[in-house]
Amino acid sequence: MRQFPIFLTVQDRPVLIAGGGEAAARKLRLLLKADAWVTVVAPDANDEILDLFEAGDIDWQARAFQPEDLAGVVLAYGATGIDAVDRQVATAARKAGVPVNVVDRPDLSDFITPAIIDRAPITVAVSSGGTAPVLARGVKAAIERLLHPNLGRLAVFAERFRGAVKAVVPGSRARLRFWDAFFDGPIAARVLTGDETGAAEDMLSYVNRRGLEQDGIVHIVGAGPGAADLITLRGQRLLEQADVIVHDRLVGDGVLDLARRDADRIDVGKAPGRHPVPQDKINDILIAEARLGKRVVRLKGGDPFVFGRGGEELQALNAAGIRAEVVPGITAATACAAATGIPLTHRGHASAVTFVTGHLAREKGGDGGAPNVDWAALARSGATLAVYMGIGGAGVIANDLSRHGLADTPVAVIENGTRPDQRVFTGQVHDLDALVRANGITGPALIVIGDVAALTDVSTVTGGLAPLAAAM
Ligand SMILES: C[S@@+](CC[C@H](N)C(=O)[O-])C[C@H]1O[C@@H](n2cnc3c(N)ncnc32)[C@H](O)[C@@H]1O
Repeated sequence: MRQFPIFLTVQDRPVLIAGGGEAAARKLRLLLKADAWVTVVAPDANDEILDLFEAGDIDWQARAFQPEDLAGVVLAYGATGIDAVDRQVATAARKAGVPVNVVDRPDLSDFITPAIIDRAPITVAVSSGGTAPVLARGVKAAIERLLHPNLGRLAVFAERFRGAVKAVVPGSRARLRFWDAFFDGPIAARVLTGDETGAAEDMLSYVNRRGLEQDGIVHIVGAGPGAADLITLRGQRLLEQADVIVHDRLVGDGVLDLARRDADRIDVGKAPGRHPVPQDKINDILIAEARLGKRVVRLKGGDPFVFGRGGEELQALNAAGIRAEVVPGITAATACAAATGIPLTHRGHASAVTFVTGHLAREKGGDGGAPNVDWAALARSGATLAVYMGIGGAGVIANDLSRHGLADTPVAVIENGTRPDQRVFTGQVHDLDALVRANGITGPALIVIGDVAALTDVSTVTGGLAPLAAAM
């Protein structure tokens, strides 16, 4: 971050603009929205500035800038467009200790005016630090589309009820949950449509009813395969609201960054073959945190119900009488397929796909595969096989499938799918083990077995990283 963002109070405080043309008027409009007391210094001023002066909204000194104009001001703008004068403003301001902005001259400026999304009192400022103003404008436009035009009215409405809510909902965490539920709920929607009277009546009964509610809840949320923009919108919203996040090792840092900054984080991550926090202990943590009345997000890589032990956690929470909900995530198989261009089913090649664990194959050794996976039946099925946790047992899986006729079937191994360090290797089932070992695969990896694995030239894949422009 090259510049430090702050919001400065300029209400009824003196601000100086040197310059009387369109560039000066643009700054003036913004400053007046924040109720600054603006003095324009310029020998000539355009009609807009003259009108404001005549209406008594600003002061205008019809003369050239002089360093004394800076006395007592909190901000100064050089907007004359005349290089020598703007430099003089910048130099004098620095000397006087007044932060200065020279229009379109970051080299002469102490601060910049960001692109502003104005839903006062909600204000969003966007800056590219002077590197790419057009990109910043694109970001601003994207945020403008996201934010309801009446968002400011909603903030003012909530402010009216702050005292009442404080009186009946004790404890800051409980209040946080109250407001989360309010902003997501029907009363807020009513305010946004303009019916503030009806919304106020609803709010009064809501405040009284919710004052008694203290229950915690656990959301078991799928984080997707790692990339931060592959979590669902619902998952993201719950992360933003959570008091505590209990997360796995495979959850990407970018996803965790979506969480509230003051949320507690509990890492119960498992490395392969290592179980720092046993499953029953994880269940206990979830139950204990929810019993404290907290909003808990149990964040799991991929989808919670695909080799994620989410089912066990849900059962434990149900048995303990804790409210729990599951939010799906993009599982590794579909994520890796998309990120490599390898379809899991394909007309004429595969009409079924099986998600299977290769985990137990490693423990069984080279003598016939995992006891609870019927590789012979899978080999006969003709389905694409998406093998999770199969790296350690790759040799066993390859032998088993080869014995049942799949020796020459194409395979693709996708390591760290959708992440910046994604790698893809292709071959055939009989050399799967060599493929894994020769390439030193250590990250989470998915093995795709079937004709579909040879349909795409994986050397052309981009790693499935969505360009920013597509997100806007
Ligand atoms: C315990 S399972 C969890 C699966 C997860 N619940 C899901 O739906 O993707 C972990 C295995 O998922 C696969 N996996 C998870 N993330 C992956 C990724 N980004 N790329 C490739 N494989 C991944 C690997 O096979 C890894 O060993």
